[in-house]
Amino acid sequence: MAKIGFIGLGVMGFPMAGHLATAGHDVTVYNRTVSKADAWVEQYGGTRANSPAGAAEGAELVVLIVGDDNSVREVVGGRGGVLDGMSEGAVIIDHTTTSAALAREMHSLGAEKNVGFVDAPVSGGEAGAVNGKLTIMCGGDVEPFEKAAAIVDVYAVGVTRLGESGAGQTTKMVNQLCIAGLLQGLSEGIHLGMKAGLDIDQVVDVISKGAAGSWQMANRGSTMAKGEFDFGFAVDHMRKDLGIALRGADELGASVPVAAMVDQLYAKVQARGGNRWDTSALIDLLTNP
Ligand SMILES: NC(=O)c1ccc[n+]([C@@H]2O[C@H](COP(=O)([O-])OP(=O)(O)OC[C@H]3O[C@@H](n4cnc5c(N)ncnc54)[C@H](OP(=O)(O)O)[C@@H]3O)[C@@H](O)[C@H]2O)c1
Repeated sequence: MAKIGFIGLGVMGFPMAGHLATAGHDVTVYNRTVSKADAWVEQYGGTRANSPAGAAEGAELVVLIVGDDNSVREVVGGRGGVLDGMSEGAVIIDHTTTSAALAREMHSLGAEKNVGFVDAPVSGGEAGAVNGKLTIMCGGDVEPFEKAAAIVDVYAVGVTRLGESGAGQTTKMVNQLCIAGLLQGLSEGIHLGMKAGLDIDQVVDVISKGAAGSWQMANRGSTMAKGEFDFGFAVDHMRKDLGIALRGADELGASVPVAAMVDQLYAKVQARGGNRWDTSALIDLLTNP
């Protein structure tokens, strides 16, 4: 069993760290808001550290899942950051969704201290984290990847290396682009069905078995029709991810017009107070114009 530092006990991190502790690993957690770390220790045992460096001390693997590029920069390289506490040969695996450039920056920073850095964003949402069924897309050097993958496999259906540093984050951009347009289409379909007086649960049950089926339809169709959005993947995070993808597309010369439009629709959801609503809240713009 490994000694692990875990930073970031949000919607995703809390249950992910729980899987590591339940598997028998020696887990030390750090969370900026201390009450969440205390709640985690009460539920899973383990230890709470007072800084990212404290959580990283003596750990062979440090797992991060925080907010965005800047929060990773702060937690890894800032004063009292994980690099201050880590030993040579140890590995950081970062599940935060960030830019590919940030992943390469952290990879270089880690290399100065002989610490491996694997970018490893996840897909599968809160339910995937709770049930240990995340898809993990990785970039980085082979040896650190293999070390980390053998451990984080406990909360994944798949942990795959797609290339050098940044390749995991670039794959996540593809993932988010594939979701954005789909969610708007799903919103329009359910909206029309509701206007027509159809039983949406029945509609979803029928069409999800055909060519229109998707994870979003199966997991969000029913709650979208009920106008329930107080859970899941926050609109603020999606706008962050779409911003990363839109900038990435620009750099690569890729055309992504639907993603640009959906990004603007999410800005409208934020403007009506939906910052923490699940991304399926796009439908609210149609049902409550
Ligand atoms: N939720 C999903 O369905 C989902 C799915 C796939 C990927 N993701 C990605 O996973 C990451 C986390 O998502 P989440 O939903 O778990 O977010 P969340 O609930 O907002 O949690 C974010 C965590 O990061 C910590 N944090 C943020 N900024 C920090 C900073 N500057 N220094 C230290 N800690 C900081 C927060 O600490 P506090 O508790 O103090 O705020 C919290 O523990 C994001 O990059 C998101 O895009 C989320």
